[in-house]
Amino acid sequence: MTSKEIRQKYLNFFKERGHAVVPSASLIPENDSSSLFISSGMQPLVPYLAGENHPEGKRLVNSQKCFRSGDIEEVGDNRHNTFFEMLGNWSFGDYFKKEQLRWLFEFLVKEVGLDPKRIYVTVYSGNKKIGVEKDSESVEIWQELFKEAGVEAKDYDNAEEKGIRDGRIFYYGDEKNWWSRSGKPADMPVGEIGGPDSEIFYDLGTDLKKHENSKWKDKPCHVNCDCGRFIEIGNSVFIQYKKTKDGFEQLKQKNVDFGGGLERVTMVSQNEDNVFETDLFENILNKIEELSGGKKYREHTRAFEVIADHLKGACFLMGDDKGITPSNVDQGYIVRRLIRRAVRFGRELGINNIGWTKDVAEIVINDYKEIYAELEKNKKFILSETEKEEKKFQKTLKKGLKEFTAIAKIIQVKVKIISGEDVFKLYQSYGFPIEMTEELATEKGLRVDSAGFKKELEKHQELSRTASAGKFKGGLADSSEKTTRLHTAAHLLLEALRRVLGEHVYQRGSNITAERLRFDFNHDGKLSDQEKQKVEDMVNEQISKKLDVTTQEMNLEEAKKQGATGIFTSKYGEKVKVYIIGKDEHIFSREICGGPHVENISNLGKFKIKKEKSSSAGVRRIKAVLEFS
Ligand code: ALA
Repeated sequence: MTSKEIRQKYLNFFKERGHAVVPSASLIPENDSSSLFISSGMQPLVPYLAGENHPEGKRLVNSQKCFRSGDIEEVGDNRHNTFFEMLGNWSFGDYFKKEQLRWLFEFLVKEVGLDPKRIYVTVYSGNKKIGVEKDSESVEIWQELFKEAGVEAKDYDNAEEKGIRDGRIFYYGDEKNWWSRSGKPADMPVGEIGGPDSEIFYDLGTDLKKHENSKWKDKPCHVNCDCGRFIEIGNSVFIQYKKTKDGFEQLKQKNVDFGGGLERVTMVSQNEDNVFETDLFENILNKIEELSGGKKYREHTRAFEVIADHLKGACFLMGDDKGITPSNVDQGYIVRRLIRRAVRFGRELGINNIGWTKDVAEIVINDYKEIYAELEKNKKFILSETEKEEKKFQKTLKKGLKEFTAIAKIIQVKVKIISGEDVFKLYQSYGFPIEMTEELATEKGLRVDSAGFKKELEKHQELSRTASAGKFKGGLADSSEKTTRLHTAAHLLLEALRRVLGEHVYQRGSNITAERLRFDFNHDGKLSDQEKQKVEDMVNEQISKKLDVTTQEMNLEEAKKQGATGIFTSKYGEKVKVYIIGKDEHIFSREICGGPHVENISNLGKFKIKKEKSSSAGVRRIKAVLEFS
């Protein structure tokens, strides 16, 4: 079945069941400053889920354009896109779990033709603290549906530890089976709505190869494992709670909010294990092959996927009726990043002819204009903006990459951090978005001083306003945010090591990527399991205290007097910056450091030591991660 058929079938299916078909809303939110883009179908419908009357009634269905800027760097793993279409159906206080799960199952099995034996589902395990029970009601409904399809459906807890066993239905907690725009219950601001959900997964292959070849191979595979064997194709959220000052209250109506990625549903219906292998990308990839002089997608998947995804995303953002122009602020900055990143990866494929991105944009417009007429309407604007942005960047890209290589060479030996000045130079003179410099740095095992960059940026009057805008914050969980978190975790780790092993411990070096933290410190002999556990527990205990991180500037002598740790070299100059975690009697760590750090440690996730080994004589090395599930 083609993507077009699936989109249409879905709309018809729910129309036949009393739903009004509504058009996709703009990608740019209205009256909602909490995010730069619409990233789920429910977002434009929040007032109706909260109880307002919708002019089209209590049942709606659509296919909503969505954009997730947090996924920019995930693109390339065969299942993430920045731009995607979300098939959605809603009940505003009308039907509930029974109808929703039955209709969804029927649609996927009977209409799309999926094999029920390859479908797995998850449900909410409950949380006493917020007064929400385990979702046994959904389990019963699922069991009945599977039974009718001739599939046994056992329900199991604790799949992260024990794997799927012979189960079909799995319970997960707040992190996986609760949905709101801001995530799990603890992360929701007062007034936000949300609820437990039930996700539906498809098994892409039972040969287990995917898992055995993945970095998760030492743990059992389960439906939420990232090895790629299972793919989430939809989520039914039962929105029925509102966060209050003291907890949660029931909304006056029980809602259904379903969302399923069209790209992924199409992928499984076409029996592919990669969204880029579907008809939604076919013409675009063919065009890139042609432009690259015959290079093959299969041999260069990452570059092809980045280009295809990013230029499609940029087209939709520019082609929106609230059309976005590439710029240095807010949404425009994202469009700029998308086009420039595509151009950079184009270079890797040897695509150098000026103006090539416009040719890809033309394919995107042709592919989608029937469904999204705004693309045709805004075609001239899309093409001219794409071309302008590409040309601006092409002019300096080659020189900029040269400059980057030169900088990297110098700092590679010792410092390993690209200074704010250098990052700014790449930005100002060569048009490198900071995230691109970060990505290039990560590829070489280096980091960038993003706080230093921000300062440089602020110094430049004309650009100062952009510094504080959305791109450093606002839901962009990109690599810079991840490294910042790990950086703060490194401070917690050092202090915990000193408290557990003794004050002789000081830091000998560290290396942080978006995924993990490597930390060297002086100590004789291996850490015992108990010591490791103690250190881990101590760090997590601090995280649970949600301590603030503040800074003070002082001279080195004063810092030492206060007991601040840190590498005391003249590199810091006379005046040093001390990062302090916690306040008053709750101060846990004081460390001399250039930053950047998170402002509060509550969002660090769960700290986990993955490895502890010798690095050189008298120096130990710890590898640690922050886990978010
Ligand atoms: N709003 C839900 C999601 O985005 C369906 O997953």
